[in-house]
Amino acid sequence: MSKELIENAAAMVAYPKGILAADESSPTLTKRFAVNRLESTALTRRDWRETLFSSPGLGEYVSGVILYDETFNQTTTTGLSFPDFLADLGMLPGIKVDTGAKPLAGADGELVTEGLDNLGPRLIDYYAKGARFAKWRAVLQIDRGKPSAVCIQANTHALARYAKLCQESGIVPIVEPEILMEGDHDLAMTSRVAKTVLAAVFDQLRSFDVTLSGMVLKPSMITPGTNGPTASPKAIAEASVECYRDVVPASVAGIALLSGGQSDEAATANLAAMNEIEALPWPITFSFGRALQDTPMKVWASSGQDRQQTQTSLMTRITTTASVLRPRHLISV
Ligand code: 13P
Repeated sequence: MSKELIENAAAMVAYPKGILAADESSPTLTKRFAVNRLESTALTRRDWRETLFSSPGLGEYVSGVILYDETFNQTTTTGLSFPDFLADLGMLPGIKVDTGAKPLAGADGELVTEGLDNLGPRLIDYYAKGARFAKWRAVLQIDRGKPSAVCIQANTHALARYAKLCQESGIVPIVEPEILMEGDHDLAMTSRVAKTVLAAVFDQLRSFDVTLSGMVLKPSMITPGTNGPTASPKAIAEASVECYRDVVPASVAGIALLSGGQSDEAATANLAAMNEIEALPWPITFSFGRALQDTPMKVWASSGQDRQQTQTSLMTRITTTASVLRPRHLISV
């Protein structure tokens, strides 16, 4: 496996950095803009993202930014492509390559993430335009009989095919099996489901001979359901790390967590508690979307799209989040 791939995977999770997930599809970003009474056009989406990415000092805490195809192919006001703009600032450009979660045939409302058609040539094109990592998100829900075995199988198989195609194109795959928080289940139930799902993910990755040191795992934190009994950050961190230790091989470059709709404070407190645990075999960092962007987006809206105030708000979120990370030599024994 290429040296570049392994180096880029390590750089994505290197202390004291994490990943900024800014790859909302245009319909999803339109919904988030609507909550803040912001108009959504290709131009306003570009301005929002350019404002975030040009925040002074961002590259000190952000190793890479996940882009959506629209942004990836847009140019900044200075006339650069977004991948070139990020690379010039020392951040790795990433690209979301799945085409979304669609109903899985025969599986009572469950979803399978699509996007494998033509993925090989698309990845070659993305690499040529500067992408150095990619993302594919599978979504699984916890409910009676869910996630079903067939849903786990279909999603993990697709994740592994995607990951292998990425590595063949010199692109680091972020493998993201998200277990949604909706439901009234408890922490133990999420932990059981996550172990089953993550074990299936690594079985499939092994079947496709994916190099684990050239990938980043992006799981959800092990939390209770949103309507389930609450749990402390310590309990969430212990359940998460116990689960990952059981099923995530030490050779994986790192774990970059999604925030999944938790408040920014909750996501950061849970990340902090995980980083307090000694002797982790991998770095555990952030790859948050909403937990980094929700507050700055409110500022963007209320300030009449003031760049400086919005960037200050983003940098406060980023530095607060990155400050809970601990360097590897303090983590491992
Ligand atoms: P959230 O942190 O908002 O869950 O987004 C991260 C992400 O990339 C989801 O696919």
